[in-house]
Amino acid sequence: MKNTVATFKKMKENGEKISMLTSYDYSTAKLVDEAGVNAILVGDSLGNVMLGYENTIPVTVEDMIHHGAAVCRGAKNALVVVDMPFLSYQTSVYDAVVNAGRIMKETGCAAVKLEGGKSVCPQIKAIVDASIPVVAHLGLTPQSINAFGGYKVQGKSLEAAKQLIEDAKAVEEAGAFALTLECVPEKLARMISDMLSIPTIGIGAGNGCDGQVLVYADMLSMFSDFTPKFVRSFAQVGEIMSQAFRDYDAAVKDGSFPAPEHTYKIDDEVIEKLY
Ligand code: KIV
Repeated sequence: MKNTVATFKKMKENGEKISMLTSYDYSTAKLVDEAGVNAILVGDSLGNVMLGYENTIPVTVEDMIHHGAAVCRGAKNALVVVDMPFLSYQTSVYDAVVNAGRIMKETGCAAVKLEGGKSVCPQIKAIVDASIPVVAHLGLTPQSINAFGGYKVQGKSLEAAKQLIEDAKAVEEAGAFALTLECVPEKLARMISDMLSIPTIGIGAGNGCDGQVLVYADMLSMFSDFTPKFVRSFAQVGEIMSQAFRDYDAAVKDGSFPAPEHTYKIDDEVIEKLY
C-alpha cells in the first residue's frame, strides 16, 4: 500500500513504528521499497556515501535532484523524502520555496527535509503553504558540523535540552509533518516524541521515537569510513562485495570466466567463410 503523509499521522496515532532507510539510486530504492519499508530518505548523506566528500556541505540541489529522481523511479509504495542541501533554504524564504519546488517537481518526491529549528520556521511555513510537505531535522544536524565543531550528541545540558524542546514545538507549529531527531539522548527524544502530535523519526535517539531511520550503507556495513555508535550492522554486505570482486578478478585472470554458458554462438559455416 502506498505510504503518504496521512499514513505517518495514522501510524503515530495507532502507536505503530515507522521504518525509514536512505537510498540514493534506483536499484537500492527498489529493494528497500519491496521490503516494505515505509519511507525512503534521499539524504544529503549521499555526499559522504556516494560522492566521497568529507561532509554534506558541498552537496548541491542538482545532486539531490539527480539521485532523488532515480530513487522515485524505484519506489512504488515508500514515501520518498528528499533532503534540501546546505544553503538551498537558509538564505531566504524565497530560495527555500523555489528549491523545495524544484526538488519536488524534478524528482517526483512526496516531501522534502531540512535541518534547523526556530530560525528556519519561516521557511518551513512557506514551503508547507506551497503544498510541499516538510520533515524537520533537529539534534545533530550535519550541515552545521563546522558550527558544532564535530559530530557530538546534542541536547545533553539543561539549556540545550530546553532549546531542543522549544525547536521541536516550533517546527511542529510551523507545519512540519514529521521530525528527525539525530544523536539525542534517549530520554529526551522520548519526551519530545510524547509531547508532539507529529511522528519523530530517530537516528541515534533511542527507541522512544515513533520511527527509525538509518543510512542503508551503514546498516549493511558497506561504508567503512566512519561507523557511528548507533548503527546496527544487519548484514556484512561490504565483505560479501569485496569477496565477489576478488573472485571476479581471479576468474578473469585464470580464464575461468567467461565460461561457455556466458557466451553467444555463431554457425561454424559463417566463421569459415570469414577466413
Ligand atoms: O542525510 C541523511 O542521511 C540524514 C539522516 C542521517 C537522517 O539526514
